[in-house]
Amino acid sequence: MFETISAAPPDPILGLTEAFLNDPNPEKVNLAVGVYQDDAGQTPILESVLRAERLVASRERSKTYLGIAGLPGYAQATQKLLAGADHEAIRAGRLATCQTPGGTGALRVSADFLAQQYPHSTVWLSRPTWPNHEGVFTAAGLPCRQYAYLAPGNRELHFAAMTNDLNQAAPLDVVVLHACCHNPSGVDLTPEQWRAVAQIAREKSLILVVDFAYQGFGDGIEEDALAVRILLDEQLEFFVCNSYSKNFGLYAERVGAVTAVCAERSSAAAVLSQLKAAARSNYSNPPKFGAAIVDAILESAELRPMWVEEVAAMRNRIHAMRRLFVAKMKDRLPERDFSFLLDQRGMFSFSGLTPLQVDELKTKHGIYIVGSGRINVAAILPSNIDRLCDAVASVLA
Ligand code: LMR
Repeated sequence: MFETISAAPPDPILGLTEAFLNDPNPEKVNLAVGVYQDDAGQTPILESVLRAERLVASRERSKTYLGIAGLPGYAQATQKLLAGADHEAIRAGRLATCQTPGGTGALRVSADFLAQQYPHSTVWLSRPTWPNHEGVFTAAGLPCRQYAYLAPGNRELHFAAMTNDLNQAAPLDVVVLHACCHNPSGVDLTPEQWRAVAQIAREKSLILVVDFAYQGFGDGIEEDALAVRILLDEQLEFFVCNSYSKNFGLYAERVGAVTAVCAERSSAAAVLSQLKAAARSNYSNPPKFGAAIVDAILESAELRPMWVEEVAAMRNRIHAMRRLFVAKMKDRLPERDFSFLLDQRGMFSFSGLTPLQVDELKTKHGIYIVGSGRINVAAILPSNIDRLCDAVASVLA
């Protein structure tokens, strides 16, 4: 029966980790998958997480199923983190939050909901975007198109081209946006541009899905929520798909949530029931431990400030590596300007390397980056930065 099955192509990001693990080169460097490393090259468990784990384990009395929407406290804590602690939309019961297995699970639940409710909609993705966006929405049965995002040269936003494309969308089309730290480019919208996108969404009845996987990695936990808060202020109805993989370092625990922002409490209740139906037929109900950790930290007067500081330390290390990379590239290739990388935010930078140069980095130097030229700055270390800069300079030469 399976003789006719041909192999699927490797995943453009996680497939590279598999190739990296199989590479015998002792000097190999993995700058592909978006996972944070400290200066020593470890992806540590945060101290706040370690303490919360002990707390959660000591309180746990049963492994019985969670409800389909997950832990109630976690949903409330998530809403406060997204909207701000005392937002009117929370008090009014206008937010519907369903705990999901990671941000990808959140995207898939929203995609299933959208495919069910708006089967004729097209999903608009930024060009470029995280490659799995297309995978998730296509798997849910919705066709995908792209809207322009970067200006030629891939260094900055081309907002006029972006809005031009969004204006081509049909009513009830879906637009996927990155709340902050755009993956893969690190190029974000300004507050004014968010307001302009909100205006287009309102005029054209577009459904915004905001992918929020890097809260805290741009400018700060509160600062990075600006886009979500602007859309809330603009009185739009939209989705937020958020992940705690990166900002709590809980990658393997699969902790995320999908939140629908609704105009009315009654619609929030109906939407939540539909999100639960989508979750039930997908994975039944979410895993508990990671969400309980996040909930314990966000609700603890002692652990929350500790976590905020730990996120700041990760963010600052990434910024420092970004600055160092730019300085070291200037030493090596003074005629080229890498300063555009300093304006990019989050874990990733778009290096401008071509697929051929990316391939040469891998085969000649054992340095793995994503084919689009995306570098995971969060895995640049004091111990590998010189080798990386030498290799990038050599492939550019
Ligand atoms: C990434 O973009 O590298 C991360 O979000 C990990 C993933 O699942 O692709």
